[in-house]
Amino acid sequence: MKVAILGAAGRMGRMLCEMASSQGCEIAAKVDVVPGFDAGFGPGAEGVIDFSHHSAVPGAVAKAAELSVPYVLGTTGLSEDEQKCVDEAAAKIPVVQSGNYSLGVNVLLDLVRRAAEALGPGYDIEIAEMHHRRKKDAPSGTALMLAKAADVSGGAAFVNGRCGETGERPRGEIAIHALRGGGVIGDHTVVFAGERERVELVHRAQSREAFAEGAFRALFWAKGRKPGLYSMRDVLGLDAPR
Ligand SMILES: NC(=O)c1ccc[n+]([C@@H]2O[C@H](COP(=O)([O-])OP(=O)(O)OC[C@H]3O[C@@H](n4cnc5c(N)ncnc54)[C@H](O)[C@@H]3O)[C@@H](O)[C@H]2O)c1
Repeated sequence: MKVAILGAAGRMGRMLCEMASSQGCEIAAKVDVVPGFDAGFGPGAEGVIDFSHHSAVPGAVAKAAELSVPYVLGTTGLSEDEQKCVDEAAAKIPVVQSGNYSLGVNVLLDLVRRAAEALGPGYDIEIAEMHHRRKKDAPSGTALMLAKAADVSGGAAFVNGRCGETGERPRGEIAIHALRGGGVIGDHTVVFAGERERVELVHRAQSREAFAEGAFRALFWAKGRKPGLYSMRDVLGLDAPR
């Protein structure tokens, strides 16, 4: 399968290009805004994997829809308008969108949902995420996915960190704390804090290959599927929320 890699000069993009042949793909285009890379992709591409920048997504996903090829979207931090463009394209082509393509995180999502259901509203939920110092958005897409998975009632208020006179912690709040530093690839901890005990569910990514491998798996899964917006839950057959 010939694939266009978006954000090809970036950390994820370089990994995807390196791994492509071992995953059964040829590179149709290495797209990036830096010199020496392709400015876009054309009919040679049979699929697209996008780990670039959110501003690039509307144009690229529309191009994929025009070419009728599947789109695997890993880029995070999309605005509402940018997300709308993805939703529109998903009416024409299969789009897989996930804030985290690792198998482990998708299993974690499943475990978080089950823990939240079993423990109930008496346990306060907090999420801590840590990424390398170069990450440009916060909180991570994965932390938001975990918060949604933990929000069993659908009514929780998501809070980004805390500062100053916060008052007592209200029930029904899920706070996300973003740590940044060094070369950390991606750590996520979900804490369920009761009065007498605490449960912590932790995932640590050790290599970007875990994301790249999942993205290739999503691309092959999406090939030939009917149009729609899919998640890794669909790809892996897991019953976890998006
Ligand atoms: N979903 C996942 O599993 C997952 C995993 C890792 C990273 N990410 C996300 O993927 C994205 C990239 O992450 P990274 O760590 O590789 O970042 P990075 O900054 O190393 O790479 C991003 C690349 O995109 C390029 N770029 C910027 N604007 C562009 C445009 N208009 N067109 C094409 N390319 C453009 C940049 O030049 C850069 O080379 C981020 O949004 C990150 O949060 C998602």
